[in-house]
Amino acid sequence: MQTYKTIIEPFRIKMVEAIQVTTAEQRESHLKKAYYNPFLLEAKDVMIDFLTDSGTSAMSSEQWAGMMRGDESYAGATSWHRMRNEINELTGFEYILPTHQGRAAERILYGYLGGKGKTFISNTHFDTTRANIEYSGAEAIDIVIPEGTQPSTEHPFKGNIDTEKLEKLILEKGKENIGAVILTVTNNSGGGQPVSMQNAKKVKEICKKYSVLFILDCCRIAENAYFIKHREKGFEKKTYREIAQEMFALTDGAIMSAKKDALVNMGGFLVLKDKILAAECKNKLIITEGYATYGGLSGRDMEAIAIGLQEVFEPAYLEYRIKSTQYLGEKLKELGVPLIWPIGGHAVYLDAKDFYPNIPVHEYPGQALVCELYLKGGIRAVEIGSVMFGKYNENKKLIPSPMELVRLAIPRRVYTQSHIEYVVEVIADLWNNREKVKGVRIIEEPLFLRHFTAKFERIM
Ligand code: F0G
Repeated sequence: MQTYKTIIEPFRIKMVEAIQVTTAEQRESHLKKAYYNPFLLEAKDVMIDFLTDSGTSAMSSEQWAGMMRGDESYAGATSWHRMRNEINELTGFEYILPTHQGRAAERILYGYLGGKGKTFISNTHFDTTRANIEYSGAEAIDIVIPEGTQPSTEHPFKGNIDTEKLEKLILEKGKENIGAVILTVTNNSGGGQPVSMQNAKKVKEICKKYSVLFILDCCRIAENAYFIKHREKGFEKKTYREIAQEMFALTDGAIMSAKKDALVNMGGFLVLKDKILAAECKNKLIITEGYATYGGLSGRDMEAIAIGLQEVFEPAYLEYRIKSTQYLGEKLKELGVPLIWPIGGHAVYLDAKDFYPNIPVHEYPGQALVCELYLKGGIRAVEIGSVMFGKYNENKKLIPSPMELVRLAIPRRVYTQSHIEYVVEVIADLWNNREKVKGVRIIEEPLFLRHFTAKFERIM
């Protein structure tokens, strides 16, 4: 079969949403009004929005048709059964709890399993996962393999958990004190890097040995399956769906933010093997989310999730998805732009410390880069560095984050090749003019999660 280099978007466009094209002067004024924090921009003033891949997917015509069929009955809706059967078939789990998004499932499960004295262990806990665990009084420990924190080290599965450390930690903390081991696939906070099946199997073995619960944070499970099929021996002939099913089968349950690989704008679920644990969680679900057959979702949302979970495993879609993310990363690498390598599934992570070596970390090179991306090209991205994770010591001096990254997260099925070419051009321009850029200073910040609302000014 003849294969061509160009990856076409495996869809055509039926409905369009206008992008407001802005001038550099307008953007300067918008960013100034937003105190140099792109979170405070109005979305209409953004041309290419790479803030997140969460809840920003374009739904298919099939999903929209499903929305019209949504059954809004309070109990036992047809849409519930449709989604339930789909999730059951994919994950193999009997107990399925619908939630309005991933963090609601986290609150229910980790709120129940957590509490003072408990420890949760993960390759990397996503922010909301860690927050829900810590809020319960428990501690959250990240033990990704060493390669996972080295931006340019080549490794096919940089999202893998360090299984030696895992076993040591279980012994050190005492198996009865482990709330759960959580494998995040792909590893979002570690650069969207995949986890191998071999690694998941080893985690299963250790969890079984010590009778510890093994939970999958599966919000990008289809993207992870792509990497397994193409990088891990023995999976070449399996379908993406079979690979995902094999991974689910190793675990005791999973949490999904459907806003990622279920290709919807809102939704999530919790699935469990154990009847008693599921019954406890169901009680919490009914008190805080909604009745057991809809949780935090309307019937139409459940229809869209059921269809999205089918579409996301289609080979043409997944190949386009991963290859187009890689295309952006590879183009930037060719230009010499420093970034996390290899490229992950849903995003490209720029290394702002190396991009702007002239800006010291206390002047936030990542924040300077997100500002420049917006000013030059109307592109919105997020700083994942010392603005997001930095802390102060007792003398109010910054304790910086280990890395200063900028994430370009790519919404699913939203932007085309020419949007990506445009982004490459803008970043090339920033790269060629990098010496002139100055850092920023914080002028106002809240106590927690400061990156969302902090105000900055430019250092002249
Ligand atoms: N787990 C992972 C790995 C995630 O990436 C997210 C969300 C969640 C859980 C929480 O799910 O948002 O539905 O409550 N990540 C988004 C992001 C917000 O931008 O990466 P949620």
